[in-house]
Amino acid sequence: MKHLLSPLDFSVEETEKLLDLAHEIRITPEKYAHCCDGKKIATLFYEPSTRTRLSFEAAMMNMGGNCLGFSEASSSSATKGETVADTIRVVSHYADICAIRHPKEGAPKVAADFSGIPVVNAGDGGHQHPTQTLADLMTIRELRGSLDNFTIGICGDLKFGRTVHSLINALVRYPNVRFILISPRELRITGYVRDDILTDNGIEFEEVEKLEDMIDQLDILYMTRVQKERFFSEDEYLRMKDYYILDNEKLSHAKEDMYILHPLPRVNEIAVEVDSDPRAKYFEQVQNAVFVRQAVILTLLESAKTAASL
Ligand code: CP
Repeated sequence: MKHLLSPLDFSVEETEKLLDLAHEIRITPEKYAHCCDGKKIATLFYEPSTRTRLSFEAAMMNMGGNCLGFSEASSSSATKGETVADTIRVVSHYADICAIRHPKEGAPKVAADFSGIPVVNAGDGGHQHPTQTLADLMTIRELRGSLDNFTIGICGDLKFGRTVHSLINALVRYPNVRFILISPRELRITGYVRDDILTDNGIEFEEVEKLEDMIDQLDILYMTRVQKERFFSEDEYLRMKDYYILDNEKLSHAKEDMYILHPLPRVNEIAVEVDSDPRAKYFEQVQNAVFVRQAVILTLLESAKTAASL
């Protein structure tokens, strides 16, 4: 049975197939309206979320299925000391597939190890967020026609941003993608991504501090928020939080066909005035996230069915 814990759990070919399916769902949603009749998704969210939890639930409902779950650890038996391993053993009797978000890196892997149903990592600490990456890839592919031959600037909190780590992990597998990593010194890309994923694979990348110096070179600008919840000190967060603010003045130096993405939620890092620029595509990412999550649910349920028949 297949789980989705990291973007690398799908090969490039499987990822392309999944994005094709998400596109198909987008253009012919009625064809998929009943393919999960009688199925249930459990959303186990030990950390806050708006988009990921609601879009998983919307994805299942769009296909005729139902949802159950919790949206904070405090309303689950985690408060009584129940482990993730025991929780997933129990939930495996209630649902057909599960999406789990947890503040501890690796918690979805523990869930997968003890699960009787497919597990999707819906974000684990500062580690990975593979379904956000699939939404990012779908958006880039729909905008540019392919996932190769472009320069992407990734700006903001590259240390704690799990969407950044997953996106880099996924994009290094495509030819001629160049990375400009834009962050304050304190929030530079985490060591394993720089060394094991970029350097060891011979990927072209630069680390810089100023967005203004590089914005004219970019085909995609991926903005991220400073991850308040991962900071040990409030003072340190306050010092970093408004380090980058993309506004119309900065955007005037960018290419006419540079697209702006952001996994959201946004705080101050993209001024609201930018939302009406045709290059701002972050709300399209939100829409695509539902289609890719429908595709993930279908793909993993199919794999569970195949595994059960063996
Ligand atoms: N992009 C994302 O993960 O948003 P939420 O935290 O609202 O789920």
